[in-house]
Amino acid sequence: MHRILPLALCLLLLSGLSGCHRDKVYRIGISQCSQDDWRTKMNDEINREIMLHKDAVVEIRSADDSSARQIDDIRYFVQNGFDILIVSPNEAAALTPVIDEVYKAGIPVVIFDRNINSRSYTARIGADDEGTGRAAARYAMHLLGGKARAIEISGLRGSTPAAARHRGFVRELESAGGTLLASAPGNWNKEDAVPVVDSLLSIHPETNLIYAHNDRMAIGASEVARRLGRDDIKIIGIDAAPDIGIRAVADGIIDATFLYPTEGHRLVRTALAILKHEPYERETILPVSSAVDRSNADILLRQNEMLKEETRKIELLKTRIDLFQAEYSAQKSLLYAGIAIILLLCGVGFLLLRAWWQHSRHQKELMQQNRLLEEERDKQKRLNEQLENATQSKLMFFTNVSHDLCTPLTLISEPVAQLAAADNLTPQQHTLMKIAEKNVRILRRLIDQILDFRKYENGKLEVHRSEVDFNQCIREWMESFHAVACKRGIKLELEAPAAGQSLPLAIDVEKIERVFFNLLSNALKYTPRNGSITVRCRCDARQLTFEVADTGEGISEHDIGNIFDRFYQADRIHPRGSGIGLSLAKAFVELHGGTISVESQLHKGARFTVTLPVRHVAPATTETGAEDVDSATGQHNVEAEFETIDDHTSFDADKPIILVIDDNRDIRLLIKELMSADYNILTASNGREGVRLAARYVPDLVICDVMMPVMDGLECCRRIKNELSTSHIPVLMLTACSMDEQRAQGYDSGADGYLSKPFSSAVLKSRCASLIANRKRIRELWSSSLPAGGRKQERPTSGPNAPAGDRTTNSTTASSPCSRRRWGMPT
Ligand code: FRU
Repeated sequence: MHRILPLALCLLLLSGLSGCHRDKVYRIGISQCSQDDWRTKMNDEINREIMLHKDAVVEIRSADDSSARQIDDIRYFVQNGFDILIVSPNEAAALTPVIDEVYKAGIPVVIFDRNINSRSYTARIGADDEGTGRAAARYAMHLLGGKARAIEISGLRGSTPAAARHRGFVRELESAGGTLLASAPGNWNKEDAVPVVDSLLSIHPETNLIYAHNDRMAIGASEVARRLGRDDIKIIGIDAAPDIGIRAVADGIIDATFLYPTEGHRLVRTALAILKHEPYERETILPVSSAVDRSNADILLRQNEMLKEETRKIELLKTRIDLFQAEYSAQKSLLYAGIAIILLLCGVGFLLLRAWWQHSRHQKELMQQNRLLEEERDKQKRLNEQLENATQSKLMFFTNVSHDLCTPLTLISEPVAQLAAADNLTPQQHTLMKIAEKNVRILRRLIDQILDFRKYENGKLEVHRSEVDFNQCIREWMESFHAVACKRGIKLELEAPAAGQSLPLAIDVEKIERVFFNLLSNALKYTPRNGSITVRCRCDARQLTFEVADTGEGISEHDIGNIFDRFYQADRIHPRGSGIGLSLAKAFVELHGGTISVESQLHKGARFTVTLPVRHVAPATTETGAEDVDSATGQHNVEAEFETIDDHTSFDADKPIILVIDDNRDIRLLIKELMSADYNILTASNGREGVRLAARYVPDLVICDVMMPVMDGLECCRRIKNELSTSHIPVLMLTACSMDEQRAQGYDSGADGYLSKPFSSAVLKSRCASLIANRKRIRELWSSSLPAGGRKQERPTSGPNAPAGDRTTNSTTASSPCSRRRWGMPT
């Protein structure tokens, strides 16, 4: 719609413009000095003429014989922006200044009838007043047989026709032998003329002719003469306006009158010629006509009547034409408006059509996208189903394998437990048995988790609630972690109601203990030395909440959403568990009607929160259940699980050094136990620590795991080989990754040998021995080919970077500061 509005406005504007467009219309201001029949006739002529000119309008103002008023009328025209002024000045002297002013201001002025005392006008149209006076005198002499004794009633003194008419009459009369007895002004009015005639006739009774400068004054003179019984006096007037002068002649009131031309049409034409810059006459003097007397007055009156009739018809026609014109322009406007509306409708229609077309195209696109999305969704659904099936198969497989493992595991665990408890074991055997015992325990827990998880998935995992004091429980559970935390330099704190303040509720103790164990084990696993773990516990009437918050590695934003998913491993490269511990914890909590959630930021720690609804069971229904903690197996023997065995204090300077780098403490412990009879064993739990120890102790051999946190085995091997002081040390990669590609990567990083887990201790021992012997042979060969001085220089026997070969081949140097002293330092 926002495009239609401007279009509509444009169209309407266009139609409006075409309807309203007009050429310039000239405004003509006409200032009449007086209002009488003669001027009425002139004004009619002006109005008729203006009808023929569409481009002009007139406004006629009359000053009613007042010069002051006429000055005001002229100013009115100027102030209202009239294009031209036509003025018949009442008195020449009074009107000349204002006309001068207007003319000099650039407004064209046409003077007509009466004149001014300057030439400040654009054009002048006047009658031959002097000639008219002469004609009147001639006619009088003719009428009175050459013996005219006349009195003159003149127009307003100061108006130019009065002076000219007097001049012409006197000159002609006197030259023809007539006599002008007296002359007095009648001011162009009958009222002013009557008393003047009265008094002049009483002074000059011999008068036989009255010459009046217009018909009105002549009629007044006639009335006086009749009243005095002076029918002998001949009366002549001027103007011959039909309804006064000619009628007076026809009725015998006066004897003759002389036509004073009006020619209103000429005034309009001259004014328009001036305005349109067309040629015009600057001075136009209209000629004198012959006298109107009894011989022609009737005809002239009839002609005048006919003229009036024609004028009426013309006016009627004009009215009709105006009407047609108005109708025409209304219809034209209607037509334009119609066209505009049609165009507008077409525009609107077009836009609607386009909008509909765009909408349907959009609709089609959306449908297509929907179809694609649906296909994608179906595909995703199928994939999910496949994934779920695969997971189920995997779970089924794990479950079956777990079931299968249960019996042999029990058969292993029992003998191992008994052997571990035997009194006659050497310390080495005791350590090995402890490793075996612990790993049997781990294996058993994993199997239990898988079986529990399967049960949960199948809805067969039951909750066996019993009334417990949670405050006491959590304190007991915490006990087993204190020693481990202390050993690892981690601050472990409990924020709970004071000891002895009971928090009674009914829970499946074994399951909630496993949840707690899982959360706290994870916290211990991921919290570095000097970190802290805080366990908080609070309870109200409706729910119990406990939190395990640590300052460890934290969980990334990406992992946090999946952390409770089964088999989810945040670190796929270095997995630190089976991936079902947390999902099983969630399952256990949810079985209680509770919730488990996590908040964490990477490198800033994590906080797991468990809520459990407070419920109670009658003591009679309290069940211990078949799934209670198997204390016999020591399933939650935390200390055993987090046992640290790295100890570098008992090195023998006569034995070669082997550095074992593996993140699994048990592997480190196992290798140490297997090899410590023949070698000094250094251990490191990640690649970075391994590189550091290798540079510091320059061992004779490095046994290195591949997948480790902080720095993996490949990078560790590469660094050892790139460092000048350690580059000669043979590296044996020991890993569970047995694929060829992984082996190739190991060799690419500079490894000298590769051994897959699980390994045989015999193979490990012989590989280690052969690698060390080979390296020794090469060194001996290399040293014998060097000059004695050079050898001395190349093989320093002391100092931090003394080659390990010196320590193994020359035991007398083993007591040097860089051997025993440093071997005794803790790592
Ligand atoms: C009309 C009139 C005429 C006369 C003319 C002179 O106002 O008085 O009667 O002829 O003016 O200007």
